[in-house]
Amino acid sequence: MAKFYLTTPIYYVNDMPHLGHAYTTIMADVIKRFKVMRGFDVFFLTGTDEHGQKIEKSASRQGITPQQLADRVVERYQHLWRTLHVEYDHFIRTTDEIHIAGVKKIFSRVQERGDIYEGLYEGHYCVSCELYVPESAVENAAGKRVCPDCGKVTEKIVEKCFFFRLSAYQERLLKFYEENPNFVVPRARFNEVVSFVKMGLKDLSVTRSTVKWGIPVPGKGEQTIYVWFDALSNYITAVDYLGEGPAFTRWWPADLHIMAKDILRFHAVYWPAFLMAAGLEPPKQELIHGWWLKDERKMSKSEGNVLDPQILLKFFDADAIRYFLMREAPIGGDGNFSHEGFINRITTDLTNDWGNLVSRTAGMIEKYFQNSFSEAAHYSDAEGAIRRDYIDLEARVTDLFDHYQFNRGLEEIFAMINRLNRYIVEAAPWNLAKDADQAPRLAGVLKTLVRAILSLNALLSPVLPAAARKVRTMFNHADDGLGWKEVGESFAVRAAEPLFPRVESRDFFAAEAAKEEKMESPTASGVPGDLIDITEFQKVRMVVAQVLAAEKVEKADKLLKLDVDTGDGRRTLVAGIALQYQPEDLVGRKVIIVKNLKPAKLRGILSEGMILAASDASNRPYIPFLPDETPVGAIMK
Ligand code: MSP
Repeated sequence: MAKFYLTTPIYYVNDMPHLGHAYTTIMADVIKRFKVMRGFDVFFLTGTDEHGQKIEKSASRQGITPQQLADRVVERYQHLWRTLHVEYDHFIRTTDEIHIAGVKKIFSRVQERGDIYEGLYEGHYCVSCELYVPESAVENAAGKRVCPDCGKVTEKIVEKCFFFRLSAYQERLLKFYEENPNFVVPRARFNEVVSFVKMGLKDLSVTRSTVKWGIPVPGKGEQTIYVWFDALSNYITAVDYLGEGPAFTRWWPADLHIMAKDILRFHAVYWPAFLMAAGLEPPKQELIHGWWLKDERKMSKSEGNVLDPQILLKFFDADAIRYFLMREAPIGGDGNFSHEGFINRITTDLTNDWGNLVSRTAGMIEKYFQNSFSEAAHYSDAEGAIRRDYIDLEARVTDLFDHYQFNRGLEEIFAMINRLNRYIVEAAPWNLAKDADQAPRLAGVLKTLVRAILSLNALLSPVLPAAARKVRTMFNHADDGLGWKEVGESFAVRAAEPLFPRVESRDFFAAEAAKEEKMESPTASGVPGDLIDITEFQKVRMVVAQVLAAEKVEKADKLLKLDVDTGDGRRTLVAGIALQYQPEDLVGRKVIIVKNLKPAKLRGILSEGMILAASDASNRPYIPFLPDETPVGAIMK
């Protein structure tokens, strides 16, 4: 089986994970799942970058040791990745013993081969980027040299150090780029790298003598290895560069490093040069995506505009976040995050278009066929066209996904979803259902819908893994691979269970106002102020009731009068559901009612309680029906 080794950057532990980090990691997870579907044996690596001056300073500001800081933040990263359904194969920490030993090994190897030598560094350093800043960098108004990457004031340092002979690699790098024109994608980023190298390369200091928090230089314990030399090596130490055993032979060189444009130069210039100097192969490809911005500025801790994914997770499924990030920004371009854009995208695409297609279809199978297709199906041209369109679509989408064009692939998938929603209206199964002779046509329409849904579901599954599992369960389907799907004879559909429940924008925006930037304290992150405890919830007595009789209320279009059994007696309720539910939809069904609501008179009828229903923006009710076996009078808790 062909192998595919893919990585994310290892994230600094001075920062809590935010939506920007989630973007890269989710993208890697989507690629992993897609590659697995395509038949690859995948190894997906992520982790944390824990050494260096930036972490040292951050820990000392917080009055803790760098190790304590790292341990605390690592947990947050790992927890977030689990929550977002990220299934990495290994999480590397640069404080792992195997990494430390591996870094010493590559450092010594390069030194033995003659490309690391002792010297003196005199110049500027940007702690935020962990970057040696060239003398050509501009000065600010106060005459201080500022970092060309982040604009912050740099530190002047004079230190004994070891240099890496980067200057000797200019020609070899240019030759490598020429032979590997897809080494960096998109192309504009590749061109940037080539021009940078063409301008000439200076030797690079790869040790620090004033930074304690790092890996000691072999044989020169008072110095530590430069954090970028240490960090980049994670990609080989994680696959046993130390032992250079079967894992290393199997996985190296990596097939894909993913990152944002901020760290391109380290990965596309320094990293291949370090590897060449150690006699190792460079990675095969680097995928460079854009930035998530908020208020038009890069989302980052120092800008103070980061968005904690935990806030979104209070309202939305992880799949919704994954979908938004993959759908919204073109690879390479920047994406601007807004709460409004987020909720609109999720509501339109997932709740309405995809969620409704699935639940309408499931609902019709439940209603017209009682969840089993014993009926022979008759297909017309319209169904044949759907099948052909799907097969063409799958070819286009897999090609786009192969080229990491997720937003375009998803756009195509949703065009097909909309086409299917229109097809339901055109085929009008509710009319076919009125005529017993049309049963084979009805089966043909619904089977086609199920096949299309299951096929699209597989294409969507790398992005929406949890929802995809739900859809497969609903339609009793085990096959999660690509291709036009077969359809079984019996189903386990639960039409009342929405795939992506509607979220009220009012609540979501209120949580935004509760300030998402408070990320430093794990408990303070965006908890809305209106929480209740369990005893308050228990004051509302919700029980299961069975509808015994139902009838329209005269001269009130919207009202139904219901007689219900609550287990300890009968009572009457009046509910505003008559536009969507007929009396016969309700009689015999088990519903949830609020029992201890003050009685109220509606159109002269005393209503003793309330039936529970979900309600959308236009106040359309959706009644949750409980399974028939639920005991009447059972308490909701
Ligand atoms: N520790 C280094 C990487 C070492 S890799 C050998 C580092 N860490 S970082 O925590 O700053 O992470 C940078 C990466 O996080 C970016 O390259 C990108 O993958 C992701 N992002 C951080 N902020 C982001 C945005 N606002 N938007 C998109 N991606 C973002 O650099």
